[in-house]
Amino acid sequence: MKEFLVAPSILAADFANLQRDIEMINQSKADWLHVDVMDGRFVPNISFGQNIVATMASHCEKTIDVHLMIVEPEKYIPSFIQAGAEVLTFHLESTDHAHRNIQTIKELGAKAGIAVNPHTNVDLLDDVLEDLDMVCLMSVNPGFGGQKFIYRTLHKIRSLKSKIIERNLPTKIEIDGGVGLQNATAILEAGADVLVAGSSVFKADDPTRAIEQLKAIEIGNYDL
Ligand code: DX5
Ligand code: ZN
Repeated sequence: MKEFLVAPSILAADFANLQRDIEMINQSKADWLHVDVMDGRFVPNISFGQNIVATMASHCEKTIDVHLMIVEPEKYIPSFIQAGAEVLTFHLESTDHAHRNIQTIKELGAKAGIAVNPHTNVDLLDDVLEDLDMVCLMSVNPGFGGQKFIYRTLHKIRSLKSKIIERNLPTKIEIDGGVGLQNATAILEAGADVLVAGSSVFKADDPTRAIEQLKAIEIGNYDL
């Protein structure tokens, strides 16, 4: 059976009860905690910064997966790794120096990811794919939780997955936005390795069960 990871997105949690919600994640079958950092410039919304990430990381026993939706990510890479980011992802559209940023993230001991917006073609990653631990394909326009999954993303997953298989790379594909039980099977069958799930977990009546249901999906091994 295909192995995959589930990364609940804390953006959809109750911010007045972050400790409770992180404890729920700790007790659940979640693999990672996805943490969305927004600056009100790259995306039209502001979330939280390094201090809150550090506080969450100190309570969380799962891998901390930080998604930077900020301009000039190069300025903040060291401080987010210092805050506890174990996987650090920045947007291709937010920087002129993607390759240098990947090097910096790795030198500082974290896994490096690049996220791409729905309009960005995955071919643009061809020359950094070897260097990346992960590609995050945005399946909504970044900035807000609770949006509808953009179905075109399934083609992008297939196309990126064939490059990864062809080049025999360990690069993971993460899908972020509008993911839930209704589409997770199709997303995994297309070749995804990490499912980010915000609303479908935290707005569920029983978030622990919602995570368990996602983890219970059974997919045969990917075959082109
Ligand atoms: C969107 C964020 C997502 C968001 C996903 O800008 O990057 O991680 O939290 O939330 P849902 O699962 O509700 O679409
Ligand atoms: Zn995200």
